[in-house]
Amino acid sequence: EVCKGVNGLDKVVLREIRGSSAEVYLYGGHVTSWKNDHGEELLFVSSKAIFKPPKAIRGGIPICFPQFSNHGSLEPHGFARNRVWSIDSEPPPFPLNSSSKAFIDLILKSSEEDLKTWPHSFEFRLRVTLGPGGDLMLISRIRNTNTDGKAFSFTFAYHTYFSVSDISEVRVEGLETLDYLDNLQNKERFTEQGDAITFESEVDKIYLSTPTKIAILDHEKKRTFVLRKDGLPDAVVWNPWDKKAKAMADFGDEEYKHMLCVEAAAVEKAITLKPGEEWRGRQELSAVPSSYCSGQ
Ligand code: BG6
Repeated sequence: EVCKGVNGLDKVVLREIRGSSAEVYLYGGHVTSWKNDHGEELLFVSSKAIFKPPKAIRGGIPICFPQFSNHGSLEPHGFARNRVWSIDSEPPPFPLNSSSKAFIDLILKSSEEDLKTWPHSFEFRLRVTLGPGGDLMLISRIRNTNTDGKAFSFTFAYHTYFSVSDISEVRVEGLETLDYLDNLQNKERFTEQGDAITFESEVDKIYLSTPTKIAILDHEKKRTFVLRKDGLPDAVVWNPWDKKAKAMADFGDEEYKHMLCVEAAAVEKAITLKPGEEWRGRQELSAVPSSYCSGQ
């Protein structure tokens, strides 16, 4: 079940009978590949990604926990993406489970080291499921296991890097007219005006209280990604564009043209858990030929 990936890191490969597949690295609990039944890669991973702790893998689906980006005093995007997760061999029942057999359960618990920077005991269970139609579902369950009676709060994102053919041909639907916090303008609040979102420069926005369904239309590929989410009110949209791309050591100078991050997230309002309480957050992705989507 577990095999060796880049640099000998452990990974799990999920396969569905019709040919779709996904790969999950234990390092970061990180999905690094999602292929449809034609074997086409649907997620972006940088050709310069560094598969070596403590650097998070650039691309795929990093898990941002217990802090999104620099919205707090911890390292950016928290530490979960830099930890080696374990396989959870006896997970508690998942009420939202599908009929698929292609899934893996991972678990991350607070280490002595992590307790020094974030003094809260937690259990984070992640189930990654590849559905019969090739859909990719991630369910997170985070439990407060503090024995000191203290609640804790966190922010969260499934930092999903979609592979797109040409960013200037991409449209995002479902976020128009919403309020957002602009990370490029001191996290100030603005309201999106007008039509579907298109891209012609750097973008780093947190859309607030979004609909549960967001579509990413790749005109050139004639493909639409549909992102559905639950328990995650916000959605982050990020593309570094040329200047920031050049400044990132683990990202090719031109790669910004072929990726877009759209991330189911909980950022504006932190999630608070009392001892013994559990939170659930789900992100489900599907990729469909664009023509099938018209009129939906
Ligand atoms: C996005 C943030 O989600 O992630 C950006 O909104 C950030 O501000 C980007 O630059 C990448 O973060 P990192 O830590 O993986 O380089």
